[in-house]
Amino acid sequence: MKALILVGGYGTRLRPLTLSKPKPLVEFCNKPMVMHQVEALAEVSWLDHGILSETKFRLNSLFIDIKNNRYFLGITITISQEKEPLGTAGPLALARDHLTVDEEPFFVLNSDVVCDFPFKQMLKFHRDHGKEGTIVVTKVEEPSKYGVVVYDAKTGRIDKFVEKPQVYVSNKINAGLYIFNPKMLSRIELRPTSIEKEIFPKMAQEDELFAFDLPGFWMDVGQPKDFLIGMGLFLHFLREKHPNRLHEGPGIIGNVLVDPTAKIGDGCRIGPNVVIGPGAVIQDGACLSRCTILQEAVIRSHSWIHSAIIGWKSVVGQWFVWKGISTWKTIIVKDEVYISMADRLLQIISDSHRP
Ligand code: GDD
Ligand code: MG
Repeated sequence: MKALILVGGYGTRLRPLTLSKPKPLVEFCNKPMVMHQVEALAEVSWLDHGILSETKFRLNSLFIDIKNNRYFLGITITISQEKEPLGTAGPLALARDHLTVDEEPFFVLNSDVVCDFPFKQMLKFHRDHGKEGTIVVTKVEEPSKYGVVVYDAKTGRIDKFVEKPQVYVSNKINAGLYIFNPKMLSRIELRPTSIEKEIFPKMAQEDELFAFDLPGFWMDVGQPKDFLIGMGLFLHFLREKHPNRLHEGPGIIGNVLVDPTAKIGDGCRIGPNVVIGPGAVIQDGACLSRCTILQEAVIRSHSWIHSAIIGWKSVVGQWFVWKGISTWKTIIVKDEVYISMADRLLQIISDSHRP
């Protein structure tokens, strides 16, 4: 079987991190976002071919292990490169030759979603209803940010698909995981096309699209607020399924994930819901909760950070205090700074940033 992961687009909602790294390579819980999908697919033994569908040549240079037609975790990976962004459907037309080598259905995944990927159950559900497509759906509180799905709860048959509706339609949304029969490719031309706006509504009208209810947690982590919510859900999932991957010890509170190469000083209070990346340094007495500290960032002594993503190689000064949602790329914050408003933060970044 085959899977195509959509890794293109510009990731503007996750700036400034995505100014220097494509969104699918930004580390979520110490792993590039797209690796969560790739590893989950690799666990499904009948999957033999993965396609990473990207805009421009950004993944090749960074993903040194995955080059055209190379073997990775037991899967042959092809990188399908668009000359211009083809949206969420055009990439399927571009990869048509790979997706039609046999009559088997194939998976299509957004690269910025996290959940306990239910590939086996999806395939069974898809084969049982026998139509062209299955999309995974989940329930959310703010449906207007997503593709909303109206479907028959008993059979799963989708009546209506509305991408980012202005008025309330339903709170069941497209989770960004699909499985299709090759036949559906005849609906897609090789041009920029939105699968959500141009393809799904027609498939629903023709009774060719079914909804599979996702069990368990889900989050699109493509923007800072949701990244942090998703981080909390994912850490909770690790606590239930793989508690040995979480960090324990003095000063560790709740669910905390720490890369083995990170250093934590004495008298720190870390957690709940903290991820510390490779080579990061947390100096004595620092206090961290609900945040991700990316690779090689340094949090100096007695700083206090709540609700933030601290970018690669950032240096946060001593006695710094931050409370609020923010995403920082590489910044240097001076000692003894207290920030409670985002506009003040911008000022400080521009004052203290060193190239
Ligand atoms: N190859 C390629 N080319 N991929 C693209 C392009 C492109 O031009 N544009 C976007 N993508 C990829 C992104 O990398 C991401 O993995 C996926 O397509 C979806 O794009 P997003 O920009 O993250 O879309 P969204 O979050 O606003 O909405 C989508 O996801 C929601 C679930 O998280 C839609 O599919 C919604 O219907 C859905 O509810
Ligand atoms: Mg998204």
